[in-house]
Amino acid sequence: MQIITSPKEFQSLCWSWRAQGVTSAFVPTMGYLHQGHLSLLEWGRSNAQKLAASIFVNPTQFGPGEDLSRYPRDAEGDAAKARDAGVDVLFMPEPAAMYPSGFATSVSVSGLTGGLCGRSRPGHFDGVAVVVTKLLMLSMPTTAVFGQKDWQQLAVIRRMVADLDIPVAIEGRPILREDDGLALSSRNVYLTPEERAQAPEIHKGLLLAREMAADGERSPRKVLAAVADHYRAKLPGASVDYIECVHPETIQPVGDVAGPALLAVAVKFSGARLIDNMLLH
Ligand code: PAF
Repeated sequence: MQIITSPKEFQSLCWSWRAQGVTSAFVPTMGYLHQGHLSLLEWGRSNAQKLAASIFVNPTQFGPGEDLSRYPRDAEGDAAKARDAGVDVLFMPEPAAMYPSGFATSVSVSGLTGGLCGRSRPGHFDGVAVVVTKLLMLSMPTTAVFGQKDWQQLAVIRRMVADLDIPVAIEGRPILREDDGLALSSRNVYLTPEERAQAPEIHKGLLLAREMAADGERSPRKVLAAVADHYRAKLPGASVDYIECVHPETIQPVGDVAGPALLAVAVKFSGARLIDNMLLH
């Protein structure tokens, strides 16, 4: 596995694959790789001739007071995991290489970014959009692979890639969970033992909503109220940031959960804000 820190060098290698007609998959990450990331790499390894990945804790997607400085990092461990997963090239740039002095461009996707995490984390999706645009322009893969845990992010990226005619297919892969249902996340390491014991209730609330929808409930208001009650009872150590039923593509609130509907939640513990989601049908 080759490790590259220079954007130009990474671009020239990846573009040479494209010029030769070699298929490639690209998995962008912020590192601290867990089984969820490895499942994205596995998909890439099995579906393309070349596999590229990046590790870059992107400063522009963190707001003031968020966890940029203490975001978990393990460059050496990540490189070993990437090598074992069959990555051909691992791109690990420094912030100054991605955002050199004078950098002045922003990328903003409107509409889909107004609610959910976009409301709680102003500017977050502009940071994601600009870095993903850069990473795709550098790697220009056949397919870029993202996890569905950040469902809104995936919807934003699909919209952006379509709007900007970026010639890359976007593959969204299912959420991986611990045995007790907690969605895998690099931020789970921030949980205290008490919080870790409660955290699987996030997923249980989603299952409750799906059960209600399967039993014929159509009112998002009733479903949301039931999930909120569940969290109030079972997550005393956390505060709910949002619980919403949205259309999976437009990320706009739905009036009826009998059609396409995604239940998306964000819950704040003392040291970590966790997100999760589930399609109701
Ligand atoms: O999902 C992530 O890890 C990040 O938001 C991404 C897509 C790598 C951009 O920094």
